[in-house]
Amino acid sequence: MPQRMLIVAAAALAVLLGCATAVEAPTPTAVARQPSALGFYSLEQAARGRRKFRQVCSECHFVSEFRGPDFESEWQRQTVWDLFRQVVRTMPEDNPGSLTQQTYADVIAYILQLNEYASGDAELVPSQDAMDAIPLGPGAANRNPGKELRDDR
Ligand code: HEC
Repeated sequence: MPQRMLIVAAAALAVLLGCATAVEAPTPTAVARQPSALGFYSLEQAARGRRKFRQVCSECHFVSEFRGPDFESEWQRQTVWDLFRQVVRTMPEDNPGSLTQQTYADVIAYILQLNEYASGDAELVPSQDAMDAIPLGPGAANRNPGKELRDDR
């Protein structure tokens, strides 16, 4: 009897291990470590965005308005494109649309960095397709495939 239980346990373990392998198998670890394949903006771009933010946005905003739970829940179920579009249309409040699309994208890249989205080799480009693919909201930065890259640093 005990031996039989052992066999059952061994079989169960084998199934469990099999499952674990099956779940882990698709994780593209090798790919995730290639910075060019992942990341949503470059560090250089975020640094440009930070400078611009300090120059222009800081006149009226604190950095803390653009990170954390309040910001996340405000942008829940929206994308980076929604944020970009709103900023281009309405900001800076005293001169909306006065920056280039590229500069707005740089500032958004900085906001992504504030929210711990992964950086990579490629810049965030001011295109609807590219930006609509990046979700905002609680946990969004960790749902995206770039997380592993960030954790490697
Ligand atoms: C002259 C003041 C001023 C400047 C400069 C300014 N803003 Fe604003 N911004 C405001 C005000 C006031 C509001 C609130 C307006 C409202 O919500 O109706 C606001 C709202 C926002 C919001 C919406 C907040 C939210 O979470 O709903 C975002 C995003 C934003 N600003 C980004 C920026 C960025 C990025 C810059 C720099 C490029 C910038 N702002 C520059 C005054 C300013």
